[in-house]
Amino acid sequence: GQDLRIARIASAIRVIPNFPKPGIMFQDITTLLLDTKAFKDTIDLFVERYKDKAISVVAGIEARGFIFGPPIALAIGAKFVPMRKPNKLPGAVISEEYSLEYGTDKMEMHVGAVEAGERALVIDDLIATGGTLCAAIRLLERVGVEVVECACVIELPELKGRERLGNKPLFVLVNAA
Ligand code: PRP
Repeated sequence: GQDLRIARIASAIRVIPNFPKPGIMFQDITTLLLDTKAFKDTIDLFVERYKDKAISVVAGIEARGFIFGPPIALAIGAKFVPMRKPNKLPGAVISEEYSLEYGTDKMEMHVGAVEAGERALVIDDLIATGGTLCAAIRLLERVGVEVVECACVIELPELKGRERLGNKPLFVLVNAA
């Protein structure tokens, strides 16, 4: 059943203490990618949820949204749009700033990748403070795209990113401490 699949996914994620700096418990999804059943279950759980929701865009956030997004997009018949770090996309872009623990960062999307009125799913590996997902939502909504839901493999509930998303639905597979 679903709970067995979730349990297997949770146990395939490796936690590395003090990476990239002291006090951070890094949620490493590369070990999930090594477990062929858990990786497939991860994609299947998202596909089961989104296949009949008339989603035309899967927007994946750099870097690990680029791993989970494309197989979901292919399976549900949606296009994949990368949401990238600044100065990586070669065409005309729109960009959105967002705050980090120290300072700010920027996210960019190609102009013309999406059209007003399209329905999008935003995907990433993990939600912490929610700032990254919020920037992606703002980028898509600025060009008239409806963000149906955000989805992540892992949520860190203590950081309350879900509250930062307001009433935007968030679907996650695994909660981590
Ligand atoms: C991580 C994670 C999310 C983001 C979540 O990316 O993959 O994209 O942080 O954090 P937030 O909810 O507090 O905004 P990271 O900053 O490690 O960048 P990377 O994917 O390029 O390694």
